[in-house]
Amino acid sequence: MDELIKAMKIAFASENVYYVKASSFHWNIEGSNFPQYHALLDTIYTEVYNARDGFAENIRKLGAYALGSNSSYIKYSAVQESNQVPEPQAMLAELLADSEKIANFLKIVFDLAEQNGEHGLSNFIADRQDAHKKHAWMLRSTLKGQGI
Ligand SMILES: [Fe+2]
Repeated sequence: MDELIKAMKIAFASENVYYVKASSFHWNIEGSNFPQYHALLDTIYTEVYNARDGFAENIRKLGAYALGSNSSYIKYSAVQESNQVPEPQAMLAELLADSEKIANFLKIVFDLAEQNGEHGLSNFIADRQDAHKKHAWMLRSTLKGQGI
């Protein structure tokens, strides 16, 4: 169970760092495709934002406390925060890599949940993995039109 709780904390922290990064890129992205970029990133960060409460509550259901500070999110996250305003393609590529990394890490969380008989949590994690697979698909498809 301890291993599952630790993995859930890492995944929750990663979601929070990803959410902040996607929000920042939504605000700061530029270029001739601005309206599409802006809308795509809105869709992505809103989806991740809305998953945060369920994540925290699932950690509570395991008997642990949810991380509740920005410093703890940075400490535990599997993805890096960004203090930069990269070129648009680099922003999308970074979020794509982050979504793939989170989706892969969620496989580990799912397996740990199953090992502990936490099938409701498995369902939640499966949905989170699917959401990040969708974000990755949308980002990858957007980048493809730009010769990347
Ligand atoms: Fe906005």
